Amino acid sequence: MKKILFLLFLYTITFAQKKTFEQRADSVLALMSLEEKVGQLVQYSGGWATGAETGRPSEGSDELIRKGKVGSFLNVVGAEQTKKMQKAAVEESRLKIPLIFGLDVIHGYRSTFPVPIGEASTWNPTLIQKSARMQAEEASSGGVHWTFNPMVDIARDPRWGRIMEGSGEDPYLGSLMAAARVRGYQGDDLSANNTILACVKHYAAYGGAEGGRDYNTVDMSERNFRDFYLPPYKAAVEAGAGSLMASFNEIGGIPSSASKFLLTKILRDEWKTDAFVVSDWNSIGELIPHGVAKDLREAAILGIEATVDMDMEANAYYNHLADLVKEGKVDLKLVDDAVRRVLIAKFKLGLFDDPFKYCDVEREKKTIRSKEIIDATKEVASESLVLLKNEKNILPLSKDLKSIAVIGPLANSNEDPLGGWSGLSNKDEVVPLLEGIKNKLGNDVKINYAEGCKITGDDKSGFDKAIEAAKSSGVVIAIVGESSGMTGEANSRATLDLPGVQEDLIKELHKTGKPVVVVLLNGRPITIPWLQENIPAIIEAWYPGISTSFAVTNVLFGDYNPNGKLPVTFPRHVGQVPIHYNHKNTGRPHDPTNHYTSYYMDLENAPLYPFGYGLSYTTFEYSDLTLEKNQIKKDESLKVSVKVKNTGKYEGKEVVQLYIRDLVGSVTRPVKELKDFAKISLQPGETKAVEFTITPEKLKFHDINMNYVVEPGDFKVFVGTNSVDVKEASFTVVE
Ligand code: GLC
Repeated sequence: MKKILFLLFLYTITFAQKKTFEQRADSVLALMSLEEKVGQLVQYSGGWATGAETGRPSEGSDELIRKGKVGSFLNVVGAEQTKKMQKAAVEESRLKIPLIFGLDVIHGYRSTFPVPIGEASTWNPTLIQKSARMQAEEASSGGVHWTFNPMVDIARDPRWGRIMEGSGEDPYLGSLMAAARVRGYQGDDLSANNTILACVKHYAAYGGAEGGRDYNTVDMSERNFRDFYLPPYKAAVEAGAGSLMASFNEIGGIPSSASKFLLTKILRDEWKTDAFVVSDWNSIGELIPHGVAKDLREAAILGIEATVDMDMEANAYYNHLADLVKEGKVDLKLVDDAVRRVLIAKFKLGLFDDPFKYCDVEREKKTIRSKEIIDATKEVASESLVLLKNEKNILPLSKDLKSIAVIGPLANSNEDPLGGWSGLSNKDEVVPLLEGIKNKLGNDVKINYAEGCKITGDDKSGFDKAIEAAKSSGVVIAIVGESSGMTGEANSRATLDLPGVQEDLIKELHKTGKPVVVVLLNGRPITIPWLQENIPAIIEAWYPGISTSFAVTNVLFGDYNPNGKLPVTFPRHVGQVPIHYNHKNTGRPHDPTNHYTSYYMDLENAPLYPFGYGLSYTTFEYSDLTLEKNQIKKDESLKVSVKVKNTGKYEGKEVVQLYIRDLVGSVTRPVKELKDFAKISLQPGETKAVEFTITPEKLKFHDINMNYVVEPGDFKVFVGTNSVDVKEASFTVVE
């Protein structure tokens, strides 16, 4: 009885509180003029531009604020600067409605964490929630109320540069990472001054761009969309995300910023969220080049009717929305609904109660780059590293080596390890790997450094010096990859090879006969079959952020045992793209004995490294895959257990992965789907039993009638260290 009373009390409070936010928003709405309502739906960049200029109003920011013509700014930072602008809003405008300040806090505000695809490589949602929490601590101390993150776009095409900003190709892993970041940013109390509003982007399916070319057309079946691309957005909204960002792309012929299917049907009618939607930079204005609006007036109508609540930098709402309402072209209710959602977010953040709660200069001074935050960057950077190859256990390297050659265009870089979207990071605070290795080993080891070549271009004049450095050293560490500017927005590549002549450089180093260890700094899967074939050790470091040297040198010299796993498939060649583990079987799956099956004449189908792949300095043995039973009803769960033993000599972490395959469905089903994983630590010789529960929810998909159901039939379950090296068992689902 007590529990029922408590739940009733909780519901009353929650309902009352939610009603309070709406009531409070409506009480302000009732006082607003049409122009002031439109002002709340306008956002401009008050600092640097993160998109093409759009010819915004001639009045300066202060003038716009005083007149109540703008409700939000992005790219304004600092307790002082935001306080100045907030003062103008709450002391000099007629209704004193506070501004909301947004910023791209993608993997850190000033203390940069690994890029999100690196964070996803930890397969540790708890750690990534902590990362987002630390990012929010720091950003909120700098006046930021709202981050345009998590970016949750599923990406199966590494040519797309924004694959760096997301969590890879899988909806299950992507959903866990999305929800973890929302919880980390928003915390338990959005009104606290160290929590910030999350923004789920880019809604939706922006990562499905044809040809992997940014901003390009996205076209897929609703089933593919709902089963593979939509889940991470839903997980983030279910985690309580207070806003979403409408994406640039069209999907199915309709640009997201004009899509009633995405924004009204799914977001409002199915998910019933009161989260508000901000357009991406000028994405409302881009309805014109998309060819669905003949001018900015029409674009404004399409945007507000689809329920894009706030217009980032398109001037569409600023210039036309009030007139469109007065002319009867736009229903005032649409504007009121949009304003209400924006005001609710501002009430949830506590900005009406204390507009200056994020403007504490003293808090900013003691929070920025605090030890707690820097320590967190070290922890996440370490777990983000993926060991791709370690032949004859050449790694970890001995600290007693007499001489080491450190070679490559990224060895002495302090900017590239930060990756793209690195906020207010200061590259002067980054220790380049060359210096990090020197610091790690002290003066007893001779370090022979040579850049060898640039990241791009065909100049090989530096090779000789690099070869000399290698010849006079006991081991070579080659630090290569992509510049941080080769991934991120608009940075698509038609090839996936190591840029420039970097691979040629490594071939020359290999010819010296010295053992070569390659450290990759890159933002997308790259095609390195020659390296995999010939180089004894390869570490995928992505862009580990401000603690790059701490993390990478600890792995290189054995003070940390790498445990990352790939959240995305690495192709052998760009010609295989799109290539992903959860593909369909087709009617003619490849059969080497039958020419008339699905394969390439000039390349094998298999990727270079599969989804979920990553090695350790130790080894793990899987045994005793056991199902509690071999038949379940549609509404029953099934327990699955496996034993994992550390059969090596290092303590290590292992990500035990569980996949399923639905053998026969009313529609075709993937050959594997990740449905659970557990990251465990094992001492040398230790064995642990890992137990999973396959719930009905994990078996659901959109059937031939687009109903989200479990279908009876035969299934396989796979458990292992990646999506290929698995043990399997079978079970059946009955009505
Ligand atoms: C950019 C990006 C988006 C970002 C926004 C604001 O164009 O597409 O990810 O949040 O503009 O900077």
